[in-house]
Amino acid sequence: MTSNPAATPDPQQRASQLRSQLQKAGYAYYVLADPIMEDAIYDRLYRELQDLEQEFPLLITPDSPTQRVGDRPASQFQTVRHHIPLFSLENAFDGDELRGWEDKWQRYAQQQAIPTGSEDDQAGYVCELKIDGSALALTYEEGVLVRGATRGDGTEGEEITQNVKTIRSIPLRLQWEAAGWDRPPARVEIRGEAFLPLASFEAMNQQRMAAGENLFANPRNAAAGTLRLLDSRLVAERSLDFFAYVLQIDDSVSNGEPIGWPRSHWQTLQTLETLGFRVNPNREHCATLAAVQTYCETWDRDRHDLPYMTDGVVIKLNNRRLQDQLGFTQKFPRWAIAYKYAAEEAPTQLLGVTFQVGRTGAITPVAELAPVSLAGTTVSRATLHNSDRLTELDIHIGDTVVVRKAGEIIPEVLRTLPELRPGNAERITMPTHCPACGSPTIRPEGEAKTRCVNTSCPAILRGSLRHWASRNALDIEGLGEKLVEQLVAAQLVTSIADLYTLTVDQLLPLERMGKKSAEKLVAAIAQSKQQPFPRVLYGLGIRLVGAVNAKTLVEQFPSIDQLMGAIEEEVAAVFGIGEEIARSLGQWFAIDANRQLINQLRTHGLSLEHTVEPPPPSGVTTDSTPLTGKTFVLTGTLPTLSRGDAKAKIEAVGGKVTGSVSRKTSYVVVGEAAGSKLDKAKSLNIPCLSESDLLDLIAPTPAPVSTDEP
Ligand code: IVH
Repeated sequence: MTSNPAATPDPQQRASQLRSQLQKAGYAYYVLADPIMEDAIYDRLYRELQDLEQEFPLLITPDSPTQRVGDRPASQFQTVRHHIPLFSLENAFDGDELRGWEDKWQRYAQQQAIPTGSEDDQAGYVCELKIDGSALALTYEEGVLVRGATRGDGTEGEEITQNVKTIRSIPLRLQWEAAGWDRPPARVEIRGEAFLPLASFEAMNQQRMAAGENLFANPRNAAAGTLRLLDSRLVAERSLDFFAYVLQIDDSVSNGEPIGWPRSHWQTLQTLETLGFRVNPNREHCATLAAVQTYCETWDRDRHDLPYMTDGVVIKLNNRRLQDQLGFTQKFPRWAIAYKYAAEEAPTQLLGVTFQVGRTGAITPVAELAPVSLAGTTVSRATLHNSDRLTELDIHIGDTVVVRKAGEIIPEVLRTLPELRPGNAERITMPTHCPACGSPTIRPEGEAKTRCVNTSCPAILRGSLRHWASRNALDIEGLGEKLVEQLVAAQLVTSIADLYTLTVDQLLPLERMGKKSAEKLVAAIAQSKQQPFPRVLYGLGIRLVGAVNAKTLVEQFPSIDQLMGAIEEEVAAVFGIGEEIARSLGQWFAIDANRQLINQLRTHGLSLEHTVEPPPPSGVTTDSTPLTGKTFVLTGTLPTLSRGDAKAKIEAVGGKVTGSVSRKTSYVVVGEAAGSKLDKAKSLNIPCLSESDLLDLIAPTPAPVSTDEP
């Protein structure tokens, strides 16, 4: 033992201290929304822990705050069986149905001779908001989060632990001491709802719209889609949150309940809070069903003020012993029910249909409606999606239609009421010619969207220019919607490249354009040439290439020529990209006009290369090493290195790590329980390395190792 631990803190002790301090600060910030530490201090301590863990990888514990941000995950999720199945709930849509449920459970209790009397604090019902998200089952062993899984079909879900760890309000370690327990429970399961706050949901859809990607229909789909992203780094970027509502012991491994185990659901929720979870504060202990109904009515009215979506109320019997005794039917618990709010639908008249041409040429039919009040706003337009949807709806001008506003998204037409249709009503079909330029439209096989493919269609051009100038792309101040329209109408701009030859004199004749504004615009356009390559790539508006994908692509293909020259298979192999995006890129580059645009942009001096090199890690020179440009794929669990560490080491010597094995892969690094990537590597004759082979390759000791491929 050292005689003076204060002078040279023991790394293990220091790491443990840092973990605990960071965990407390994170809890205060994300769960209590009551910060106790300045951001800068948090960052310093976090970095200190990161450095320690890098130096002594054995110090990394699964509950370390550094383990929240993702690794590159496997190519697919494992299916896991739930120790205790996740049931869904029976629905009630009005007060009568709620009373019917109360009758039912009371009769059952009587038949089975289950005593229903409870001490006061265990009596009655607990009402909670039904959160519109995605259910998660979290397993904690000895107090540490070991598994996070989706609900799946209730019996089997998908193991998404790495993604779950990115949700900051989910503790990696239970605060079991705070609950007054004498030991951590051997194994408990916490369940709850992962959800996206409405603001994040809307921002995300806005981004998707800009990238020409499909929108999420509601926050529930968005949360479920996010949880199933294979790249947990992307999950970490979306602000998922979590409310806990179930705490259960897994009897198969636990020997008895810890002292102080909750006896009512009300206490359970308090215990969950004590253990470190966010529990929805809008809960209520109701003594009678009448009080339950009042709660439901109140929240039906007030729910629109919440920053997240709720689609009903969950009502549970408070007494846990009674819950256990009542048990489950084939499908539902007898002791709980979901009161669902009436869907936000309303009938109105279809006045006409317009067809919008997006920047990718996709044509969307839009219903023009007699204004109707829905979910607190007036709706006068609703999307009709695409041609298939028009056929399904069999929609006619003058129809009475039912419109729905789901969440805070674009309203949609749910159905028509054909019995109310006026005689001779005109049926709506997709246009055979583009409403903006008149050229024939096409509907590519296998696609839902009808498209205009005229590269000089003014509607496509307007959309492309607006996207090019948008904040996440080239960010050209002053080039807004109105001006874009004027520039296109005056034929001053016929492609993105034309922006870069605009002169003040050309702009002056435009309506409401003074000399000052014209000069400012020309300067802002010139300034945009300084924007880095990922923004340019995103600005091109290639279908499915959003801002995040553009960055990922640029990491692997640092210049437009490399990207253009790459074969589709190589692009698809990039982690987080995949075949669909690769195909979209291939199709875009195959069009002459697009390649011409690239050449023009090059002439005008826009950045088509990634110029900023990441700073070299200390101790590593920037000189090219024998591993520069080599491509590695990791599979299985390595004995000491985490995937993040292995990747960092490979990148530090100029190598690249990709997600799947192809002919271009230089090495496959194989750990325990390696999967199909190993088989693929063998079939392609790609050299396989163990962790120690890899370390030797990176820092050859004692004799240099040949890096030539056989
Ligand atoms: S309790 C056996 N409480 O609603 C009890 N569920 O239709 C199981 N949900 O799959 C659920 N908020 O995803 C419960 N406060 C809440 C909830 C909630 C949302 C979801 C959950 C479940 C579905 C039931």
